[in-house]
This record gives sequence, C-alpha cells and structure tokens, in this order.
Amino acid sequence: MNNKKINILTIYGSPRKNGNTDELLKNFEKGVYENNSLDNSNLKIESLFVRNMNFSPCIECRHCSIDGECSRRDDMQQAYLKLTEADFIAIGSPIFFVSVPAQLKSFIDRCQRFWSLKYELNKKIITKEREGIFISAAGAENINIFDCAEKVIKEFFNVLYVKYEKNFFYNKIDQKGDILKKPGALKEVFEYGKNLKIQI
Ligand SMILES: Cc1cc2nc3c(=O)[nH]c(=O)nc-3n(C[C@H](O)[C@H](O)[C@H](O)COP(=O)(O)O)c2cc1C
Repeated sequence: MNNKKINILTIYGSPRKNGNTDELLKNFEKGVYENNSLDNSNLKIESLFVRNMNFSPCIECRHCSIDGECSRRDDMQQAYLKLTEADFIAIGSPIFFVSVPAQLKSFIDRCQRFWSLKYELNKKIITKEREGIFISAAGAENINIFDCAEKVIKEFFNVLYVKYEKNFFYNKIDQKGDILKKPGALKEVFEYGKNLKIQI
C-alpha cells in the first residue's frame, strides 16, 4: 500500500476575502474531498492566503543567485516549503489591470530563488512530476483579458517544475458574489477536483 501523503496546494491570490476566485477555489477543494480516486486519509489540502501573509516584495539583492536562498526572513520561507512539497497546485486570482494583483505578483517575484536554483545554479531541488491549474475571474467582456495573467502563471509554474494543465477563466464576473450566480462555473471546478487524478 502506498502511504505517501498527497499534497494539494491552493493559492488564494485575491485581496478580497470570499470574492469570486475564493468561491471557485473552495469549490475545487470540495470536489477534491469527494474524489474517490484520492484516499482521503492520505490527502492533505493546504492553502496559502496571500492577502494574509506577511512578506516584503523582492528587493533584487540577488542573494539567491549565490546559494538559491532568499535573504528575507518572513512568511515566504514557509511558502517555499509548501511550494516544494506540493503534488498539485491550484492558483486562484482575479485580473487587476490585465495581470494578477500586486500581492500575488510580489509572492511570485519572491520565488526568484526557484528561478536561480533552476537556471543559474543548475540545482534541481524539485523532483516531483506535478501539475497545476489557474482559475481566474475578470469583469471584462473580452476573454483575451486573461492573456497577460496566464503568461505570468505559466512562467511561475515553469520555474516550479509544474505542468500547466488547465485554466478556468470566467469573464463578466465583477461584483463580489457574481460567480455564485453562475452555478455552471462552480460545478465545473468542483467536477475537475472530483475527477482529478494524481500519481505520486
Ligand atoms: C484594482 C482592480 C483592477 C481591476 N482590473 C481589471 C481588469 O484589468 N480587467 C478586468 O476585466 N477586470 C478587472 N477588475 C475586476 C476584477 O477582476 C473582478 O471584479 C473579479 O471578479 C474579482 O475577483 P475576486 O472577487 O476574486 O477578487 C479589477 C478590479 C480591481 C479592484
């Protein structure tokens, strides 16, 4: 029997608590808990609420180019561990000025240490095969509104050795609770979680 824990990491990127992307990520998590192919006793879903984290933006000291470590000591240190250990990552984020909110962008920038490890120091500290999804909501009518954020998340996943598996984009979703009026959207992410297959 395989007793290894399956670590699923959900990253809540919105500054708005219980907003549209929070609701979508929560439904994804609910689906995962009802997933019959994942043994619940071995399943660990951990969440990072970026809005509640205490960390400073990258100051470009380039310390990580030397040894792959970030010189800052704050909540990111714990996040680095979770990002390293995850078997699957789901990011939820609204679109702010065609990209991700500043808080989430700072979080991603602080992951420069993973970039240095991979491309400057040639040290592969992440050996897991893993996948990730990007869930987003935006007010605009134009579906292209997600293009820039998608590029950011794709590069973030690439640096973390995460295969960008799928995205769930919902436009014309603006006010808090708008997504609750779209049960099809909530069901879609729920079903994805419920049918997710993870090999460890
Ligand atoms: C500062 C700010 C910037 C925004 N910029 C955009 C934008 O560029 N394009 C867009 O379609 N929606 C934009 N929006 C709307 C949000 O993407 C939308 O309300 C989304 O549903 C919020 O998701 P949340 O409730 O998970 O935070 C912006 C909202 C705020 C507060």
